[in-house]
Amino acid sequence: MILWERPPAAIAVPSSLVAAISRSYKSINSMSEAKKLAAEKAIDYVEDGMIVGVGTGSTVAYFIDALAAWKHRIAGAVSSSEQSTARLKSHGIEVIDLNTAGPLQLYVDGADECDPHKRLIKGGGAALTREKIIAEASDKFVCIIDASKQVPVLGKFPLPIEVIPMARSLVARELLRMTGGQPVWREGVVTDNGNWVLDLHNLAITDPVGLERELNQIPGVVSVGLFARRPADVVIVGGEPPKVL
Ligand code: 5RP
Repeated sequence: MILWERPPAAIAVPSSLVAAISRSYKSINSMSEAKKLAAEKAIDYVEDGMIVGVGTGSTVAYFIDALAAWKHRIAGAVSSSEQSTARLKSHGIEVIDLNTAGPLQLYVDGADECDPHKRLIKGGGAALTREKIIAEASDKFVCIIDASKQVPVLGKFPLPIEVIPMARSLVARELLRMTGGQPVWREGVVTDNGNWVLDLHNLAITDPVGLERELNQIPGVVSVGLFARRPADVVIVGGEPPKVL
């Protein structure tokens, strides 16, 4: 039985709303498609016998899925988070401790923001400390992003800072004093290292290397989500075709 040939006026959806919904649906769709395309392009950097450093996040999840096809050709992976470890293991990829692996040839990870010098803000997924360690241990850091992550100046995305729990208020006061930015506690989030995260809002980071160095001096700061002293070496922006910077 047909109840309505078309919706009655009282519940009719304005065409502008339909257009807005369909626009945002398309852009969400294409953003995840862009992430997947960037992740798949990063496979070009994987070589036989490598131990691959693996980051964290939704873009990296696509990379791990693509890496699964290589699992018999690589020696394994070093993982930056429990989340990535679980996904790697679900594909049967061996996860190796960084101390056992030693220096790595390749690290692949996403980012929350990327400037024209390949300096990054990372830590939206609260895995910044292990990500920073693996990036430092790697010869080549390939960063995989969609175009929305590209910015002229870092800081629109709140800068994640991992802190020892007892130092949370001390660090927050220092961040405010030193930068004028607004620290916000990411309440309820505990990192894989058992620490907490402060997100520093309202920054325009004109000297990322200097800021990274300064913030690292605050007692209680475990790590700062600025990857400026050790930026990415290669940035892949997802698209058809992907752009390699
Ligand atoms: C996790 C990160 C991620 O790389 C960053 O948050 C980007 O995530 P996504 O790929 O889901 O957009 O730094 O700590």
